[in-house]
Amino acid sequence: MRKYSLDKSKIKVLLLEGIHENSRQYFIENGYTQVECIQEALHRKKLEKKLEEAHIIGIRSRTELRSGLFEKTPKLLAIGCFSIGTNQVDLHDAKMSGIPVFNAPYSNTRSVAELVIAECIMLMRDIPEKSALAHKGIWMKSVNHSVEVRGKTLGIIGYGHIGSQVSILAESVGMDVCYYDIVKKLSLGKAKSVPSMEDLLSISDAVTIHVPSTPLTKSMISAEQIAIMKKGACLINASRGDVLDYGAVANALRTKHLAGVAADVFPEEPASNNEPFVNELQGFPNVILTPHIGGSTHEAQANIALEVTEKLVKYSDIGSTIGAVNFPEISLQSHKTKQRFLHIHRNVPGVLREVNNQFSSKGINISAQYLQTDPDIGYVILETDSDLNGTILNDLRNIPHTIRTRILY
Ligand code: NAI
Repeated sequence: MRKYSLDKSKIKVLLLEGIHENSRQYFIENGYTQVECIQEALHRKKLEKKLEEAHIIGIRSRTELRSGLFEKTPKLLAIGCFSIGTNQVDLHDAKMSGIPVFNAPYSNTRSVAELVIAECIMLMRDIPEKSALAHKGIWMKSVNHSVEVRGKTLGIIGYGHIGSQVSILAESVGMDVCYYDIVKKLSLGKAKSVPSMEDLLSISDAVTIHVPSTPLTKSMISAEQIAIMKKGACLINASRGDVLDYGAVANALRTKHLAGVAADVFPEEPASNNEPFVNELQGFPNVILTPHIGGSTHEAQANIALEVTEKLVKYSDIGSTIGAVNFPEISLQSHKTKQRFLHIHRNVPGVLREVNNQFSSKGINISAQYLQTDPDIGYVILETDSDLNGTILNDLRNIPHTIRTRILY
């Protein structure tokens, strides 16, 4: 039986902005020999020139791939955003050009969780204030405002990837954990789900927020919710800047209702390290302010490189779009004794029938077919037993509403 394989030596990979070495290695280990790594972001003209030849591009946050660019990149198959966010790419435009975009939403989960636990301990010992005074030459040796976290209750709002990791770490230092999530979540360890956010706020010694930014979560903690919290409780936000009303938090610090606060994210964050940072929480003694670095560790960068590269290689090798942020998702294994075709088209009636006609009119049996659609496009993968040498590709390309087609192996 004939075995089909993709000629990966022809696929050009371009990795920009100093993407972690793990990515290059993974491509090479998987047979991709043409991998070019560039340390910085490229100016638009140079980027366009490079993209005329590249099949796969990896970027971080400084490279923008905007509307209009994809008309000039006929060879580009896939984009990897080696970041959590993907707003540096025009996702709709990429989709309508048949280019899936992949990212790494969860590779820095552990880094955020570790920071949160460290901050919880620091706040409960009043360390920010004692440290700041020591820097000024003031010796504030005192047991005041210093408690162990062991036996205290940590309330976690949002029990997703990060919230549940925080839960595990908190229990391992002896904390009791309760959590509130709008979706029913299986509790880890001895953590207890509580029926409402108000319940959580009223029983917790420290509260940490791990929800996404949505219309529902906007200012979800404001004066009214803080008033429900225990006097002397601590509050930590490493999720998104708009979930917390920082003005209300500042008032609660002034009245000493809150004993300590740690914030990593803010409604207005400087776009670069050269711009000033302003927030209502500046100047309070027991407050830790960090510049959105909850997920910024070397380990997270290494994990992001692997997570995104694996998704890119899977798409390039077998057509799987699992984890794509702008594309219908198809998950499948490789099937090397079959020949596999991809067809990406505008989601209008009749295209699939035309695709099938191209095969049946040539007497070719389709042995498997996988289709997923969204309102804009359809993505179909077909497998045949016949060896077509790619001759059918032109016919598939000529079907009206076709965006892109490819023979995998
Ligand atoms: P996730 O999607 O795994 O979990 C979010 C959880 O919040 C889900 O379980 C969801 O059901 C829950 N949720 C949504 N709306 C809610 C509501 N109104 N009330 C209660 N629960 C609600 O997300 P993940 O990865 O845990 O990230 C959480 C947050 O952390 C996100 O905002 C993310 O952007 C942020 N983040 C911050 C980083 C940093 O550097 N500080 C790094 C990585 C993520």
